[in-house]
Amino acid sequence: MAHPITIKQLQQKKQNGEKFTMLTAYDATLAMLCEKAGVDTILVGDSLGMVVQGHDTTVPVSVDDMVYHAQAVARGAPNTVKMVDMPFMSFAYPTQAIDNAARLMQEGHAEVIKLESGAHQADLITELSRNGVPVCAHLGLTPQTIHKLGSYGKRGKDDAEATQILNDAKRLEQAGADLILLECVPATLAKAVTASVSVPVIGIGAGRDVDAQVLVIYDILGASDYIPSFAKNFLAEADSIEGAIRLYVQSVKNGTFPSV
Ligand code: KIV
Repeated sequence: MAHPITIKQLQQKKQNGEKFTMLTAYDATLAMLCEKAGVDTILVGDSLGMVVQGHDTTVPVSVDDMVYHAQAVARGAPNTVKMVDMPFMSFAYPTQAIDNAARLMQEGHAEVIKLESGAHQADLITELSRNGVPVCAHLGLTPQTIHKLGSYGKRGKDDAEATQILNDAKRLEQAGADLILLECVPATLAKAVTASVSVPVIGIGAGRDVDAQVLVIYDILGASDYIPSFAKNFLAEADSIEGAIRLYVQSVKNGTFPSV
């Protein structure tokens, strides 16, 4: 049996300057192919609300949905670190957050849980961390707040918002976050955040100067209605799904993806 990578090893990779990879998966078969192709970490993202369930946003996704998909992924990829999203309104107050994180870890076999965050969640992250829950703080574009944001556009474009994201990342690391995920922020900001925190920074639409990349698996397979400009259809250059995932892994590791 392969030795599973742990979050400590991901932190080691950052210290060694070695990039690592993450892809979303929501079912056992694609999770199994991710593991075979050498993906370091799988995200059971609440993006499943849109790409699997067909909703317009991630807001309708429930904790039960996340547990169901996380269990399938865990069966398919037993030896890969699995990060599972806390869905909308599942961590609005501390006891609720702890109960739901426990479900994702005990029933869904998550090794890390991800929260769409801000500095206001510092105390919650400390509480989760003290209880042995590894946490990834998701900053930048936070799709669960779409009804407040009004669009899925880039965040941190002006100085005030960029400073806030940078300060939030430092504050949440201090609070106990084990990883930071930055979605759709300028590459210069992602680079600054990556240099300012000692925990690994995973980027999506955040340029190349981060410690790891994540994409939605359907985007790399060209199976999405709309492929965001920061993603790439790797299946166009491969002869199988596993081959496409391998190409993504190689391209992130050798620094050819993303190109900017
Ligand atoms: O839910 C998800 O898939 C995500 C990624 C887009 C980072 O949060």
